[in-house]
Amino acid sequence: MVYLDNAATSFPKPQTVPEAIVSFMTRVGANPGRSGHYLSVEAERIRYGTREAIGRLFNHADPQRVVFTANVTAALNLVLFGMVQPGDRVVVTGMEHNSVMRPLRFLEGRGVTVTLVETASDGTVDPQDVASTLDTPARLVCTLHASNVIGTVVPIGEISRICRDRGVPYLVDAAQTAGCVPIDLGKDPIDMLAFTGHKGLLGPTGTGGLVLSPSFDEKLIGPLVYGGTGSRSEQEYQPEFLPDRFESGTCNIAGIAGLSAGLDYILTRGLSEIRAHESGLVHQLIAGLEAMEGVTVYGTSDPKKRTAAVSFRIAGIDNGITARRLSEEFDIMCRPGLHCAPRAHKTIGTFPGGTVRLSIGPFNTEADIDAALSAVAAIAGK
Ligand SMILES: Cc1ncc(COP(=O)(O)O)c(C=O)c1O
Repeated sequence: MVYLDNAATSFPKPQTVPEAIVSFMTRVGANPGRSGHYLSVEAERIRYGTREAIGRLFNHADPQRVVFTANVTAALNLVLFGMVQPGDRVVVTGMEHNSVMRPLRFLEGRGVTVTLVETASDGTVDPQDVASTLDTPARLVCTLHASNVIGTVVPIGEISRICRDRGVPYLVDAAQTAGCVPIDLGKDPIDMLAFTGHKGLLGPTGTGGLVLSPSFDEKLIGPLVYGGTGSRSEQEYQPEFLPDRFESGTCNIAGIAGLSAGLDYILTRGLSEIRAHESGLVHQLIAGLEAMEGVTVYGTSDPKKRTAAVSFRIAGIDNGITARRLSEEFDIMCRPGLHCAPRAHKTIGTFPGGTVRLSIGPFNTEADIDAALSAVAAIAGK
């Protein structure tokens, strides 16, 4: 079996990830930040250590400003619904995922204005085009860091400086880049970074979060979920301090233990090594696909400007059929269609049919890419 669906969720995980989950469930099992007995203290140690590891990966000093959520969708909803009011304007790119577009389209119904920044058909965003949308007041700029459809990386560093100069908060959807592409919150003034745990971070599903920069005022975001936090139990009002302000209810601590092991793997192997490994395979895959008659590859072929999500189409063959044949005849896992990102497909000109997406992860090999290329060639030839 060749797994090339890492943009949907990474697989396999490092063996230490399931081991950490089983170890937590069988050895610790307790609720973090609640009861004070030593198992609860151990659970809290694991949770705090995971906040610290997130901080190390993103060069962010304060673990208390790492808020855990169920996934990046929950983190994005927290900011969009907690911060944006009727009459506000939000600026986004033409490549956003439905995790951003659906909340915003709903909010439009409540009187929010959505501005789409001009986006090229290869997914490129010019920071100056973001700047020109900020001549009129905006509540928030929200962009993804890389497209889940064609992998194009958005220049979040430059955009963050533009937003900081204009005094507009900046939210980044790092679903496709956390654990794959360097993100430096110490250097780039990104106010809010939303991440998911089960893709590049190699953790289990049901994990993710939001990292808030030291200078961002968290009071600008109202909590979406109110309730027990294990802190200030004498109060019937939600604690205002972080991370408790946004972490009501028992968290997915077994999942966080697994995420911690995923982060350890990345920090030990090194992000630049993972990036170089994936870029090499991307180059092999794109070169092979581009050489095939009838196959169109979307997005940039420059590995520095993209992640390892590669979209293509075979002329005259339905994307769903290609994907089904890859799975059933060649044992290759991929994802066809619109990838929850109709806006991105409209921008690159592949709506409504979509594309076939092959997405590489840190455990893929050159042999995997060779297998995928021969399978696509066989399908394209018939
Ligand atoms: C760019 C982007 N944003 C948001 C999401 C949603 O991720 P999750 O389902 O983990 O919340 C995805 C997942 O494919 C994505 O690629």
